Amino acid sequence: MPVFASGKLGSVGKAIDALAAKAISAVIKAGDISGKAGEVLLLTETGALPAERILLVGCGEKEAFDRVEYRKAVQASFTVLLNKSYADALFYLAADGISNGGAYRSARILAETWHRQSYRFRQPGKPKPAEQSLKKLSIIIDSKHRDAAKKGFADGNGVGVGMSFTRDLGNTPANYCTPSYLAGQARTLAKTDKKLTTQILTEANMKKLGMGSFLSVTAGSSEPAKFIIMQYQGAAKTKAPIVIVGKGITFDTGGISLKPPAAMDEMKYDMGGAASAFGVMRAAVEIGIKVNLVVLIPTCENMPSATATKPGDVVTSMSGQTIEVLNTDAEGRLILCDALTYARRFKPAALIDIATLTGAVVIALGKHRMGLMANSDKLANALMGAGDAADDLAWRLPLDKPYNDLLKSNFADMANIGGREAGTITAACFLSRFTEGMEWAHLDIAGVAYNGGTTSKGSTGRPVQLLVEYLLQH
Ligand code: BES
Ligand code: MN
Ligand code: ZN
Repeated sequence: MPVFASGKLGSVGKAIDALAAKAISAVIKAGDISGKAGEVLLLTETGALPAERILLVGCGEKEAFDRVEYRKAVQASFTVLLNKSYADALFYLAADGISNGGAYRSARILAETWHRQSYRFRQPGKPKPAEQSLKKLSIIIDSKHRDAAKKGFADGNGVGVGMSFTRDLGNTPANYCTPSYLAGQARTLAKTDKKLTTQILTEANMKKLGMGSFLSVTAGSSEPAKFIIMQYQGAAKTKAPIVIVGKGITFDTGGISLKPPAAMDEMKYDMGGAASAFGVMRAAVEIGIKVNLVVLIPTCENMPSATATKPGDVVTSMSGQTIEVLNTDAEGRLILCDALTYARRFKPAALIDIATLTGAVVIALGKHRMGLMANSDKLANALMGAGDAADDLAWRLPLDKPYNDLLKSNFADMANIGGREAGTITAACFLSRFTEGMEWAHLDIAGVAYNGGTTSKGSTGRPVQLLVEYLLQH
């Protein structure tokens, strides 16, 4: 139950209070809860109400109760609920409405948050964590919006399942989460739905295709690289698919251009783009989204060794364009460019790549918004809008020609780096040279895919919400 600032109750709250023999107004009057955002109070006095407990949640000013505040209130509720052994809960938090979200959004946020907060990392080699006791959630909403709420709950559940999958893949250490492991995950996922098929290309296949750029990144690793193709048919065969490409570097040491040791463990998250592409596919299957979706995942390790690519080496990409590898740590773009070229055969309605591509985007936008770059205003706007609607925010950066010119090389068609300045943009400019004639967008998620540091360290599951929102709107 929401309690708004200065102890105000909504209209539904007043009715419940009457049923509960004024148990709610009594604790408000006694000063036990005032309605400040984040406050919680559990009551066992419930009068004639057919409930064993009432959890009061402070929601702040009633007029300012928007999606962001609602999310916080739902989160505060689960923090209490998931610590107890309760089996079911009934949510009244959206009963009086949210200023910028309807029944669909309220139910969706509830389902998503349930998954997010109950997520526990499954340690490899250990038994599954104990199942949570909370089994059933209900939401109280005006009955004329019943269908919208049901749809919201189902979509939110799909997004939640997808995000947890993304987080598991991201958090799994690189000695377990290898390219072959990801290929296995794709095969397992494909078995869950007839609409989904998968194909795994080996290094020999890639060689035949001419993926010299991708192969140059795996050259130093003893783990075989894989190119994962997942195809989901949710619409008529004739409908052009959305193609999503996810960067799948299962560990990025930097290669011969070796990274410094501090926080290098975080480079296990360098397959965050791939993990979120997996999550989106999982969500699409779960929800039964009515689009055709292709997911492409180039995956390998970036390792230094006697067989590794050296700075100054020139490699030939599948597109025929040659690349001078001036820095082996700019490897993401080298695997993505061949995947983007491969994507051409699907004649995509839209081509979207997701990658933990540059440290520079963390400096530019921090951990709040991801970087968005595109050769199409229409696609960029659609993705920005989807991010806004799903509270999974992006911000567009430009791709003007003067940035693109920074990739000049004396020895090949282009260099793989453009210098220190505008590093996020020059990385995207590099990719843009492989997407001409296709509607393409690039999401640089280096800042948002995971939390570093010591507390709450781990994969965030972003940008699964943004992409599922985009697919649903498409
Ligand atoms: N995987 C990194 C980018 C990254 C950095 C992700 C920090 C998450 C957190 C990428 O492969 C990389 O090393 N990029 C270089 C590019 C540079 C050599 C042009 C970078 O950002 O320093
Ligand atoms: Mn790198
Ligand atoms: Zn990388």
